[in-house]
Amino acid sequence: MLLEAGHELLVFDDFSNSSPIALDRVRELAGPAAAPRLQQMQGDIRNPKDLEQAFTKAPSGIDAVIHFAGLKAVGESVQHPMHYWDVNVNGSRCLLEAMQTHGCHTLVFSSSASLYGYPEAVPIPETAPIAPINPYGHTKAAVEQMLSDLHASSPDSWRIDCLRYFNPVGAHPSGRIGENPLGIPNNLYPFVSQVAVGRKSQLQVFGGDWPTSDGTGVRDYIHVMDLADGHLAALDCLLAEEPQLLTLNLGSGQGQSVLEMVQAMEAASGCSIPYAITDRRPGDAAISVADPSKAAQRLGWRTQRGLKEICRDGWAWQQQNPDGYT
Ligand code: UD1
Repeated sequence: MLLEAGHELLVFDDFSNSSPIALDRVRELAGPAAAPRLQQMQGDIRNPKDLEQAFTKAPSGIDAVIHFAGLKAVGESVQHPMHYWDVNVNGSRCLLEAMQTHGCHTLVFSSSASLYGYPEAVPIPETAPIAPINPYGHTKAAVEQMLSDLHASSPDSWRIDCLRYFNPVGAHPSGRIGENPLGIPNNLYPFVSQVAVGRKSQLQVFGGDWPTSDGTGVRDYIHVMDLADGHLAALDCLLAEEPQLLTLNLGSGQGQSVLEMVQAMEAASGCSIPYAITDRRPGDAAISVADPSKAAQRLGWRTQRGLKEICRDGWAWQQQNPDGYT
C-alpha cells in the first residue's frame, strides 16, 4: 500500500520471524514500475552500526519510520522476559536515538491492545487504564511511555502515532503474502487455518464457560488490509498536521467468539475444523473489543472488511502456501 501510494521504502528486518521471499512477492504485486522503490536490508535494531547503515543508505534521507520490529508472543514473553525487554524496549531506544541523530522525527509505532490487560468495560477507549498482564504487554507500555517522554522533551519536532492493534488476522487478498508463524501457532487464527488445511488435527478452544454469548472468548479481529490502511492514514495525518503524539485504537469495534471464527473459516474453506473445549488459558480475558471512534474521527479511518473477508483471504494464503514461504 505504501508503494501504491508512491512512497520510497527501505525495509529493515532481522528476518528472525519472517522471510525475504515475502518482500520478493511484495515487489511482484507492486509491479515492475513500483518495485525498484522498495529496498531492503538485514539488520538488528539493537545494533547502532546496522541502524547507521540504514539511515545513510537512503540517498535523500529518511522522512518517517514505521516501527514494527518487535517480538509478539505472549507465552514466550513469560518464559524469556529479558529477551522481550531487550528487543522491544532496548531496540526501540536504539532506533529512537538513531532517528534523533539523523533528524528524523516522524514515527508510527506498533502498540497493542494488550496494554489494557483485563479491561474494566468494553468497548475499550484509549483512555482506559494501562494495566498489562504479561511481559509482552509491559514492554509495549514501556515503549509508549518512552515515546511520551521523548515527545514532551521536544514537542515542536516529534510527530508520533502509537497504534494499539487489537487482533490482526487475514492475509493479502492475492493469497501471495500472509502469516507464517514459526513452530506451533500461539494464536487462534493461524491455528484454525492450519487445522483447516490439515497441518494440525484439532483446535483446542480455551474455555467454554466465559461470560459471553456462546461461552468462548470474544476478540476484535481486524483484517491486515484494514490495519495497513490505518497505518497509511496515520502516516498521512502525522505528515499533514502539527507535531503531536497521537494514540489510537485500531480495531473494528465488533467482537467475535472463538466458535464464530471456527464457523467462518469452515464456510470459507469448505473444510471441517474439529475442536475440543479445554481449560481456560491463564492470562486470557473474556472479551476484548476496541472503541475505534477516535481513529474514525482523527483519521477518517474505519475497518471495511469483516470475518468473511478475513477467512476468505486467509484461506487463499493458507491453501496456496500450506508450508508458508518454504
Ligand atoms: C494476544 C495478545 C495480543 C497480541 C496477540 C497476537 C494479550 C492479552 N493478548 O491476543 O496483545 O496482539 O496475542 O500476538 O496479551 N484461543 C483458543 N485456542 C487457541 C488459541 C486461542 O481458544 O489455540 C482463544 C483465546 O483463548 C482467545 C482467542 O482465542 O479467547 C484469541 O486468542 P489469541 O489469538 O491468542 O489472541 P489474544 O490472546 O487475544
